[in-house]
Order: sequence, then structure tokens, then C-alpha cells
Amino acid sequence: MIRDVLRMGDARLLRVSRPVEAFDSPELRALLTDMRDTMAHLDGAGLAAPQIGVDLRVVIFGFESSPRYPEVGAVPFTVLINPEVTPLGNDEEDGWEGCLSLPGLRGRVPRHRALRYAGFDEQGRRFEREVDGFHARVVQHECDHLDGLLYPMRMRDLGKFGFTDVLFPDGAVAPDD
Ligand code: NI
Repeated sequence: MIRDVLRMGDARLLRVSRPVEAFDSPELRALLTDMRDTMAHLDGAGLAAPQIGVDLRVVIFGFESSPRYPEVGAVPFTVLINPEVTPLGNDEEDGWEGCLSLPGLRGRVPRHRALRYAGFDEQGRRFEREVDGFHARVVQHECDHLDGLLYPMRMRDLGKFGFTDVLFPDGAVAPDD
């Protein structure tokens, strides 16, 4: 079922979410179905459970090609529960981000370039990956939602925050430079 996505200003987006304790349950399956339906409906690159008002440490992300981020390569579709994120190295890079909770806006956000993430899939199987670039950016963005953080709270230059159609009038989001 397609759910409403909470928008910035809703206090539920600022909560620290709780770990999932029961895997492979009807409740978790229903939550993931709703998250997938909602993300697909909005062409999102990712979605975190708090964005639909559920304070559990569950995120989904991934796409073959994203109309919201036409300049980036595919990220495998992933269900990530109770994630742990560990930066690899000290490199940071700036890149444009949007969020379904801030429709129509983009901002340039510093993120760790590379990281390891670990967590559980919906059957409770643990997995781990090392990633960089946009994949690492998406993981940091989505996992931040589980700690009540929205991307503007990570920005250092609010001069690089604005409406997508004003920032990118030709419709193409500028590649990272
Ligand atoms: Ni978001």
C-alpha cells in the first residue's frame, strides 16, 4: 500500500528509531511492502521507515537508473535492517541530495566517500558490504533517518540548498564536481 511520506517539520522524522527484534514476521513483511510501494510510486532512490511514521531501524534503497539522479550508476535493491555503518578512511565528498521528505528541494551534502555497512535482510540474515560513491551516499542518507537526521542538518553551506527546478533549470541535476 502506498503510504503518505512525512515532510520535514513533522516531529516523527526527528525520533531515534528502535531496532527490529522479530524478523520474518507479518508486520515486518507488511512494512516492507508498503515501503517498496511508496518508494516506487515516488521514484525514490531510498526510503526509511520513519518517513512513513514507523520508528523502526529499517531502510530500503536501490535502483537500476533513477529519474531523480540520472547521472549516477545503478545501486542494487537492498533491504537493510538494524544497520551499522563504519566509514573507511577519512575522505569526504560533496554531492547533491534530495529527500522524499523535502519534495522539490536539493542540497549539497558532505558524506564519507567509502564505508562498510552491515545489517540484516528481511529474513534476519546478516550481510556486509564495502561501497563508495553514490551507493555510500545513499546508505548514509537513509541511515541518518533512523537517528532523526535530515540532510540539511548535515550541510555546511546552506547557499547550496534550493529548489530543484531553480538550481537545475534545464532539468538535469549537475554531476558532482
Ligand atoms: Ni531522505
